[in-house]
Amino acid sequence: MYTKLEEAKEILKKYNQEQLLNSYDKLNEENKEKLLNQILNIDFDLISKLYENTKKEIKLEDANIEPISYIDKEKLSKEEYEKYEKIGRKVIEDGHYAIVTMAGGQGTRLGHKAPKGTFNIGEGIEKSLFEALSDTIKEANIEYNVEIPWYIMTSRENNNQTVEFFENHNYFGFNKKNVVFFKQGELPMVDTNGKILIDENGMVKEAADGHGGVFESMVKNNIIDDMKNRKIEWIFIAGVDNILAKMIDPIATGLAISKGVLATGKSVVKRNPEEKVGVFCKKNGRPYVIEYTEIDKKMAEEVDENGELLYGESHIITNLFNIKAIENLSKDKLPYHSAFKKAKYINEKGELVNPSEPNAFKFEAFIFDAFERLEDMAILRVKREEEFAPVKNAEGLDSPETARKLYLNYMQCKNKNNIQYQDVAKVIVQKEDINNINNVIYSNEFKVTINNIENLQKENKIKIKQIEPKVAAKNVTDKDKK
Ligand code: UD1
Repeated sequence: MYTKLEEAKEILKKYNQEQLLNSYDKLNEENKEKLLNQILNIDFDLISKLYENTKKEIKLEDANIEPISYIDKEKLSKEEYEKYEKIGRKVIEDGHYAIVTMAGGQGTRLGHKAPKGTFNIGEGIEKSLFEALSDTIKEANIEYNVEIPWYIMTSRENNNQTVEFFENHNYFGFNKKNVVFFKQGELPMVDTNGKILIDENGMVKEAADGHGGVFESMVKNNIIDDMKNRKIEWIFIAGVDNILAKMIDPIATGLAISKGVLATGKSVVKRNPEEKVGVFCKKNGRPYVIEYTEIDKKMAEEVDENGELLYGESHIITNLFNIKAIENLSKDKLPYHSAFKKAKYINEKGELVNPSEPNAFKFEAFIFDAFERLEDMAILRVKREEEFAPVKNAEGLDSPETARKLYLNYMQCKNKNNIQYQDVAKVIVQKEDINNINNVIYSNEFKVTINNIENLQKENKIKIKQIEPKVAAKNVTDKDKK
């Protein structure tokens, strides 16, 4: 019988990747085992193919690209609105709705050396991206009287730090069993000669395989089984960096169900032809997103008879999927795109190289490449100022500064329109007091109406460490606004 080492040697010889065992002898027993397992799990045919693809020019083939039809949420009649709302609301209230936040990225572009979700939005808000999202979920839990399960996709690199962050923040007051972490997949990085790199620790150098790996990771990590056990049917999947993401959306849900499709993608109107967002369109009759790096100038600038951009429905990575669609999409890999990056590695002399210029290819799948595998999907145009405040760059466009402005504006408008407004304060009590409080709470930070603070102290004989007044308001429902 072959030992693992012999098996690995044979495979590496076949694919001309023998360098991967260069540091093997220097590793301890545990790491030797880890390295061999890594090697035996690599799909070398796929890696060779992906490397060959890096030499080809990417073009939009000879596809038939057309604008896509969409529903503008603002233009729905009262009847249509109420119809979709009623259908979607029932799904949420009956506990068939879950959220997935894709938080596999590091905050590199933001200059933040930790998981992106832990980035503090700063001045006037002082919450992390995770906390901003958690507030949205908490409000919905109150509005729909449910506990919506929150699944968080991390990566090997940032998983421990992310879980620790949630632990340190008492899971933002959620019941721990309703916050589930799972790791996204990874693929080896290759140099310009197609050789897989060795990482600083002597292991195969792997990098996150992009947000398109989300479907496969959900199946591999038993998330789909967990969702089925909880009777989840509709799943909202969004990135971690949009602090206005409206993740709990009865209209998007009601629309998909009424149209008989398995997904709804939300769009906002593209700010101008140059904006760095992908746009929804139809490719050979199927839904598709052309990424900003792929669209040509002429297409980006084309307008219709009303002067609106023909390809102006921006994809903001806030999409709703039925669980059946996710299961189907998990079966076949999405195409991979390559990015040329700087990557530290161990060279053939065993020295660590820290390149100053890009030296290696990273392969990533994009979630929106899944759309053309769906026969059809609904596109719901929503208002940018209500649903899109991305935090991507340290400065300038889509930065903490622009997102803060959008967030604060939105909160102000929401409070102004709020006919059911109640003064709500965030209260922080001593951790030891959690068990002394009559109501079920999971964290020593929670919200309470201002009028009830005094009662809370008297009834429970607890010490309040800090009160932040008016942190949230019970939101007026969209229906009331109409
Ligand atoms: C993205 C979209 C673009 C869209 C724009 C809107 C891509 C390739 N393009 O651009 O179509 O119009 O956002 O804001 O996504 N993530 C993971 N794991 C990964 C990679 C990313 O969880 O392996 C998460 C990130 O944490 C982030 C989200 O996915 O929350 C988006 O990824 P990012 O790389 O920031 O995409 P953009 O270039 O901003």
